[in-house]
Amino acid sequence: MPHLHIKEFKEIDYPQTVDGVDFHYSVQNLNHKNEMLIAVKVDGDDFFLLAKQDNDKNLLKSDKLTRPPSIYNVHKALLAYAKAAKLEVIVSNVPLHEKNVHLEEVSALKKIDYFVDNFPKNKELRIEVGFGSGRHLLHQAAANPEILFIGIEIHRPSIEQVLKQITIRELENVMVLDYDARLFYGVSSIK
Ligand SMILES: C[S@@+](CC[C@H](N)C(=O)[O-])C[C@H]1O[C@@H](n2cnc3c(N)ncnc32)[C@H](O)[C@@H]1O
Repeated sequence: MPHLHIKEFKEIDYPQTVDGVDFHYSVQNLNHKNEMLIAVKVDGDDFFLLAKQDNDKNLLKSDKLTRPPSIYNVHKALLAYAKAAKLEVIVSNVPLHEKNVHLEEVSALKKIDYFVDNFPKNKELRIEVGFGSGRHLLHQAAANPEILFIGIEIHRPSIEQVLKQITIRELENVMVLDYDARLFYGVSSIK
């Protein structure tokens, strides 16, 4: 998970917007007094950053309890907070100059509506529900270029990693759907 190892955590004033990131408020975790949640919004994504102060280490990272949003937005929020609070960063795994990739522009990523009008009917098709790391999906797609693979996943960081791999490996027979597969029980318009 993206994180900044910082020398010392510092609060900022709320609300404020820095580099397109809205910082709404911060709250202390009553059960873990060394933890602070910071409510942020980036490109329509609402999530929390977590500031954790331990004896030997101070970290600013994304909160794993809220469903992780786009990893790019987490990066943006971490860097914007560090800038606003003038944090001294000791170690970071957050790229400083990340190309702002809009995942919706990656052609392998489809929205559920896409399949209403474009459900592939004249191709052999395999669907993997919950592809996780994508190891199996990517391996099968590379080994069977004549078959179309649709991977369904709810965990956004996994989706982003697999989309990157699809681009790197130049796979043209994989579609990725960011969707809770349980909702298929209620979808009747896809035949
Ligand atoms: C144990 S992993 C399986 C990974 C992969 N299938 C494999 O064999 O290596 C299960 C995956 O299913 C995903 N998942 C769980 N419930 C889901 C749902 N309702 N819709 C889509 N994906 C789901 C999880 O996010 C997780 O990545």
